[in-house]
Amino acid sequence: MGVSATRVVLLCIFLFLGMVLPGLVMQPEASLQAWDVSENDFPINSSSAEKLTFLLNYAILAPSVYNSQPWLFNVSEGEIQVYADKARWLKVADVDRREQHISLGCALENLLIAAEHFGYNCSVSYFPGPESLVATVSLQPNSTSPSDSRLFDAITSRQTSRTPYEPRAISKADLDAIISLCSDPDVGIFITDDPALKRSFLDLTITADEILYSNVNYKSELGHWLSRGVMGPRGLEAKIAQMKVVFLDVGPEQIKEDEDLINSTPYLGFISTANNDSLSSVKAGRILERFWLSATALGISMQPMSQALGTAQTKENLSGLLPSQSSMREVQQIFRLGYGKPAAEHSTRMPLADVLIAEQ
Ligand SMILES: Cc1cc2nc3c(=O)[nH]c(=O)nc-3n(C[C@H](O)[C@H](O)[C@H](O)COP(=O)(O)O)c2cc1C
Repeated sequence: MGVSATRVVLLCIFLFLGMVLPGLVMQPEASLQAWDVSENDFPINSSSAEKLTFLLNYAILAPSVYNSQPWLFNVSEGEIQVYADKARWLKVADVDRREQHISLGCALENLLIAAEHFGYNCSVSYFPGPESLVATVSLQPNSTSPSDSRLFDAITSRQTSRTPYEPRAISKADLDAIISLCSDPDVGIFITDDPALKRSFLDLTITADEILYSNVNYKSELGHWLSRGVMGPRGLEAKIAQMKVVFLDVGPEQIKEDEDLINSTPYLGFISTANNDSLSSVKAGRILERFWLSATALGISMQPMSQALGTAQTKENLSGLLPSQSSMREVQQIFRLGYGKPAAEHSTRMPLADVLIAEQ
């Protein structure tokens, strides 16, 4: 018995609406409003808790893997606790939660830079309690704020630049200036313009893309985050992006894009640590963000490139790209560095209220 064309069309419409509408309705409230924060709005005459909460407007502008914003904050007397939000952990793409901890390190760094800017002395204790409590920051008001506000100012202009970069060298003075602002004895930074090394990194990225884009679970998780409208396309476009990634073979397109991006980049950067644990990843995140803000202040673009870290097979070869004398052999993050075009707009953020742990 044949099925009429009308029935097939109706079935398709039904299926399409069934998949798209719930996704659209359930898209979280995310907007560009967070980027409008102004230092003039610091609540100078308000309570200590309100002042500390204001600082978090800068923490949430941090970069994060898939723009997952995997942080939660609790403000108490003279302290801010930074928690990992397990509900926003990428179980497939980030099995060991390395990228989640790097993202939390980025948010922590923004918080510390903002706190210093508004005249606080800070001390950080890492993982002082339950596993999800990544750091407690103690903040003491002091009478001076730093004279150099370049890193603070860069928090609201930093963004991920995914365009090809110009074949233009960065001056040694600028590279040295960036690196000098990013010191942590537990974290190594390696910047290279070696074509052979870039080729090796490209090969590992292509292998990783082939593995990742043939993994249904990876595609389905990526599709889920795309559909939330936090990674560029929003609304209906976000749902279409999800369906494309889930149902089509987008691997070859991704490989072509990564090839163009890596071939165009004048520099690759590696952030590495001696150990492979959560604390090392948080510290690596702090340095990644500090580096990114310092680069932004000088008009230099960055884009993390994580694929080669995303499969065991390619990750294990990445440390072979580091200088042989380096004792920091755990690659935490790799990024492109150069002069690119700014993105048309910032990426969205959830409202601050959504990542504050409410007082009981
Ligand atoms: C740990 C980490 C890994 C990331 N990996 C990638 C990546 O592989 N490719 C990419 O284009 N962006 C990557 N990003 C950038 C995020 O996608 C970006 O920060 C997020 O979408 C928010 O956008 P923004 O940085 O422009 O504010 C990464 C960011 C972090 C913190």
